[in-house]
Amino acid sequence: MNVYDSDRMADTLAPHGYQLCDAPDDADMVILNTCHIRENASEKVFHALGRYKPMKQAREAQGKDMILAVAGCVGQAEGPEIIRRAPYVDIVLGPQTYHRLPEMIERAKRAKKKKMEEGGKKERIVETDFPVESKFDHIPAPKSNNRISAFLTIQEGCDKFCTFCCVPYTRGAEFSRPVAEVVAEAKKYVDEGIQEITLLGQNVNAYHGEGANGSGEWGLGALCLELAELDGLKRIRYMTSHPRDVDDELIRAHGDCEKLMPFLHLPVQSGSDSILKQMNRKHTAERYFEIIDDLRKARPDIAFCSDFIVGFPGENDRDFEATMELVRQVNYAQAFSFKYSPRPGTPAAAIELQVPESVKVERLKALQDLLNQQQIAFNQSLVGKTTPVLFERYGKEENQYLGKSAYMQSVHVICPRDIIGKLLDVEVTEAGSNSLKGRLK
Ligand code: 5AD
Ligand code: SF4
Repeated sequence: MNVYDSDRMADTLAPHGYQLCDAPDDADMVILNTCHIRENASEKVFHALGRYKPMKQAREAQGKDMILAVAGCVGQAEGPEIIRRAPYVDIVLGPQTYHRLPEMIERAKRAKKKKMEEGGKKERIVETDFPVESKFDHIPAPKSNNRISAFLTIQEGCDKFCTFCCVPYTRGAEFSRPVAEVVAEAKKYVDEGIQEITLLGQNVNAYHGEGANGSGEWGLGALCLELAELDGLKRIRYMTSHPRDVDDELIRAHGDCEKLMPFLHLPVQSGSDSILKQMNRKHTAERYFEIIDDLRKARPDIAFCSDFIVGFPGENDRDFEATMELVRQVNYAQAFSFKYSPRPGTPAAAIELQVPESVKVERLKALQDLLNQQQIAFNQSLVGKTTPVLFERYGKEENQYLGKSAYMQSVHVICPRDIIGKLLDVEVTEAGSNSLKGRLK
């Protein structure tokens, strides 16, 4: 979603004379769009700011300026801390206020002028409220930077309040964009040549957008079916979803809609019911298996991806073994796994029984070994098979093209003619842990 948001910031600033550049050292403005999900993500922001400080000073020594802005969820959660630790930052803004960037930049410029003329302390611009007006009503319609595949935010925020997670606090309450607005944005993309759209939301299948002409609220399944009507749109994906919000309509959509890709990111976080309860995930391991089974029945070629947290407070060996067992049963095509990282202000951070770092490291290694084995086995299961690939970019080698399979694997082929933007059948000849090689049928 930060990729989508960064593009929207660029779109918002384009009419004000800003253009993207390749390197920060001689930029008029640097915006760091940040993530607060885990501790190391937030710490990266302070490291990066340390790198930009001398660049800003060098520009100032030449009589120029570099406006330094911190956007995104670290800005939202740690605005005052950023100004304290990095006083050279000019603007801090949260993820819901970036439509106001042009105005914030003007205010930052005025503050700088005032300081130069009158001395004293420079005012910093900090905008981290959740405005009543939606930013989506203010930002320009997106332009696709990549011609083939695009992200489209349909939902933001979250009301689930998993006890480890900062998202409900940084992104705010759950909000769904109306169906007509989503369809219009998708249509614009398709008119520009986009063939694959990934619908985004922190909790994307909680989608409940207002339907057209008073048709009530629509769920994600209905929205996918509607988008599938767009000629020229070949693939639809969505992420990230919550097991609790997988409903029958969405499962049916996976069965009925060819364009909906058979690859689902459905985080489970843990396989232990007691940890799931402590996490406030609102589902059991059993319920997760049922959902997986129902989806496999609807779409037998579907593959799954998940997120896992190891070392959640109170997690014992038995709990961890339940996670390993769940992984063995589901058999994932891909996964993301993390050590639990306490996020300030979240309920789990206050639990006393924190798991020692060494245990977290050990569990993460065991889990990742298993998940990697499954990923390699999944990739290898495609060798000798033919699979459709949507080609998106040129590879590093001569005549090499890179595309994505239905399962988000990168697929490399060699071809003498330009196949960017083509959806072609590829016979897979080799599989590595992260990518496939093949030849065009
Ligand atoms: N510690 C570790 N991992 C976390 N995630 C979210 N919050 C935390 C945390 N405090 C992980 C979850 C989520 C993914 C985006 O990040 O697995 O699904
Ligand atoms: Fe965070 Fe996802 Fe839980 Fe919402 S559902 S609180 S975004 S982990």
